Amino acid sequence: MGVALGAYVLQLIAEDKTERTTLITDDVNRPHITPQQYEVLHGGGAEAAEIAKERLSRRRFLRRSMLTVWGLSTTAAVAGALYMLYPNLAGQFGSALNVGKKADFTAAKPPDFKIGQAGVFYRQEAKTYVVHLAKDTQFLLNGSNLSDQLDAETVVKDSDGTYWIALYQRCVHLGCTVPFRDNCVSFKCPCHGSHYNVDGEWLDGPAPKSLDRFAISFNGTDVVVDTASVNTKVPHPDQTTRLIAPPSVECSV
Ligand code: FES
Repeated sequence: MGVALGAYVLQLIAEDKTERTTLITDDVNRPHITPQQYEVLHGGGAEAAEIAKERLSRRRFLRRSMLTVWGLSTTAAVAGALYMLYPNLAGQFGSALNVGKKADFTAAKPPDFKIGQAGVFYRQEAKTYVVHLAKDTQFLLNGSNLSDQLDAETVVKDSDGTYWIALYQRCVHLGCTVPFRDNCVSFKCPCHGSHYNVDGEWLDGPAPKSLDRFAISFNGTDVVVDTASVNTKVPHPDQTTRLIAPPSVECSV
């Protein structure tokens, strides 16, 4: 029906153009005539001339109304398509989210991590584990090697010397949600056993890389996780890139 309406409107446009061209030509080639002159020239009555003019203006009105309706319909359809392509995600997963105050996330050293209490906190709205490492965390690297690797793994050093990471909950093997297990002091995927350290670095299992992580920043005392900005390029660590030593406890499936 939309195609038929479009074709009809195009036909109207073409006719309208032809008519306007004719009128313009007439305007150029002929002097303007009064209804009385029309009567003399064409042998018709002045009334007939008025009726003819009125019909012409009604047809124009109808055509322009159709064009207006078609234009509005097309605009609405284009706006709808753009909304589907670029939905407004403000305040939802896929945008920058305020996940709480800094004071809500108690910093801890890796061996002391407990979900929701120390070092690691889940935020469902952001599908994120917020990791807050104490300033005296023992890293395996130092100097520029450490700062470069922190950047590469989207680990943010705060002004008080602590470190923040926003880990995406999704296992990078086949997408299961990965829980943090207090008894393992690490993340262990229940689907096929991929195992990740407190900072998301791969430990063992079939996952092809370390956990993905979002950009994390601060707005005053608020902690902001930008779920539109994800680092998916943290490979398996080796002795030149691993930041934190694996946990000392075994983690059975
Ligand atoms: S989906 Fe997590 S190990 Fe397969």
